[in-house]
Amino acid sequence: MTASIIDGFAVAAELREQVAREAADLKATHGIVPGLAVVLVGEDPASAVYVRNKLKATAECGLKSLEFKLSESATEEEVLALVKRLNADPAVHGILVQLPLPKQIDSDKVLGLIDPDKDVDGFHPVNAGRLSVGLPGFVPCTPRGSQILIDRIMPDLSGKTAVVIGRSNIVGKPMAQLLLQKNATVTIAHSRTKDLPAVCRTADVLVAAVGRPLMVKGDWIKPGAIVIDVGINRIEVDGKGKIVGDVDFDSAKEVAGAITPVPRGVGPMTIACLMLNTLDSARRSAGAA
Ligand code: GUN
Repeated sequence: MTASIIDGFAVAAELREQVAREAADLKATHGIVPGLAVVLVGEDPASAVYVRNKLKATAECGLKSLEFKLSESATEEEVLALVKRLNADPAVHGILVQLPLPKQIDSDKVLGLIDPDKDVDGFHPVNAGRLSVGLPGFVPCTPRGSQILIDRIMPDLSGKTAVVIGRSNIVGKPMAQLLLQKNATVTIAHSRTKDLPAVCRTADVLVAAVGRPLMVKGDWIKPGAIVIDVGINRIEVDGKGKIVGDVDFDSAKEVAGAITPVPRGVGPMTIACLMLNTLDSARRSAGAA
């Protein structure tokens, strides 16, 4: 079997167009332009690229972006003061503090100060709690984007088995919650899991979110499974840098039923979902949700 390739790039472009149309409607009906504040602290080169891509998408969707750059030596107090100011600003509907933060800053403290109703990353404990009990709130962008891709192939996962590799608060745990909401029988596997390949082979839906390049091999995959590769890893091949996922795509595509590539799979969906979350936030603030 050769898997169908899930074109996250194309689905993300559709979603961004949808956000652009709906944002234009919101402006026409309520006079509101969704505003996203992006906070970048320090000089991490990967973070700078992510932030640039997020700001570019924001502009393309007709949303307003506000960029705040703080130096590598910024204090925790400075970052907290900025978050407080953005919480109070009615033109700001979404606040995103790019991670990782420099080591002198306590990320949990910063994320915990963001108004949960502006937390478009969905990282605040209140939003994690809302997701776990099924209340409306912000869902982290990567799991939300992954779930949209899965939905298009298999909207109801009743009777299906899902395995999520990785237990992070940003991807693994919220992804498992979303799969559970779709009625899947869900396992979260991680570094202490015994016989990981055997656990993965039980999965009708396999989500890899570990940050280990090419870890999941074709013989870990149940024939016909949906494979969602969340990894974005830079490796060297023949002296050249290459971006690869957590899944060994070449062997996996011979076994899976459908698989996301890296790049052009989950990555663009993450950014499109940030746009969706920002639009949702502005709608809610306008009572138009
Ligand atoms: N760093 C890596 N991924 C993310 C993300 O989705 N949001 C934020 N804020 N920081 C990140």
